[in-house]
Amino acid sequence: MSPRVSLVDAGYRAVLRPLLFGSHHGDPEGVHEAMIGTLARFSRSPGVVSAVRLLAGSRGAPTTVAGIDFPGRVGLAAGMDKDGRAVLAWQALGFGFAELGTVTAQAQPGNDKPRVFRLRKSTALINRMGFNNAGAARLHRELSLLGVYRGNEGAGIPIGISIGKTKVVPVEDAVDDYLTSLEMVLPHADYVAINVSSPNTPGLRSLQDGGALLTLLKALAGAADGRAPLFVKIAPDLTEPQIDEVLAAAGDAGVAGLIATNTTLARDRLDPADQHLAAEAGGLSGAPLTRRAREVVGYLTRNTDLPVIAAGGIMTADDASVMFDRGAALVQLYTGFVYAGPALAARINALTRRDR
Ligand code: FNR
Repeated sequence: MSPRVSLVDAGYRAVLRPLLFGSHHGDPEGVHEAMIGTLARFSRSPGVVSAVRLLAGSRGAPTTVAGIDFPGRVGLAAGMDKDGRAVLAWQALGFGFAELGTVTAQAQPGNDKPRVFRLRKSTALINRMGFNNAGAARLHRELSLLGVYRGNEGAGIPIGISIGKTKVVPVEDAVDDYLTSLEMVLPHADYVAINVSSPNTPGLRSLQDGGALLTLLKALAGAADGRAPLFVKIAPDLTEPQIDEVLAAAGDAGVAGLIATNTTLARDRLDPADQHLAAEAGGLSGAPLTRRAREVVGYLTRNTDLPVIAAGGIMTADDASVMFDRGAALVQLYTGFVYAGPALAARINALTRRDR
């Protein structure tokens, strides 16, 4: 490992992470909001962006997936920057792409707080945010103001945008709701992620069922009309027959690829020290998800030629390596980034550069 990456790693683990985890009375969401606010502010100043890139950034190995040129194979997973406020920051931290959202057609507050829990011994999180977001129209405005449009490299890296269903809209009316979001985000999205796998919006995961999914995906693919590739993001809790249904629908509708996985409802593999949090409702992410996410990615790549973006429990560069070995085209980080900081992206970038 390069001395600079070691320094970034040590700096994050020894200084920044304790400060972050200890601030806001230990409330993970408060820390998250403060971090996004800070990144949003610094990223509006090109000089500061360059300085951060020099200090903490890293260069990836370029690759082309679904017709999009990615400067690196490790990206930021959805949910970290829902409203795109820090969109200009992610490239400086070593990410080769960033997935904004999930946004919904109507702005909504999400579930009551607290709704994110740190399971430190398990290097995991449980969240039941419930798609708190300012709405697809607001994201459209934000990205317009920042000059981030599909294909213009306004953020320095490709931008995916994840869309989901507004909570108060009945699941029977989901298609129109997704279509509204799609129109808002299309001008800005290098790809659009269809999120049908959050455990925190009642009924949402039923949209992964073959018939419902095919209807939704056909409508969205028709409306997108080739302007941007669509990716479907699935849950790790699907059985193989259910994954087969997803693959059939994805193939029939002509989507470009899959993202696997979202958070899990399972609660195995927790450290005993975190058992008291196991009953918190929501999706579990991080190290306890590593094994299942690998299985799902392996199953997908064995059963489809569509490109797969792997997410779920990628906590080390070796974890990313396993996903690439299983055929993933790209990987994404959420919980690993919370616990390890930008050095994790740097290490994954280093291994992909070596393997080329
Ligand atoms: C998420 N995730 C998520 N996924 C998504 O598609 N839309 C979203 O809005 C969110 N929001 C969100 C919030 C929080 C607090 C967490 C921890 C996660 C899921 C995320 O993108 C990823 O798929 C999983 O967390 C699994 O990856 P990790 O965290 O194990 O690397």
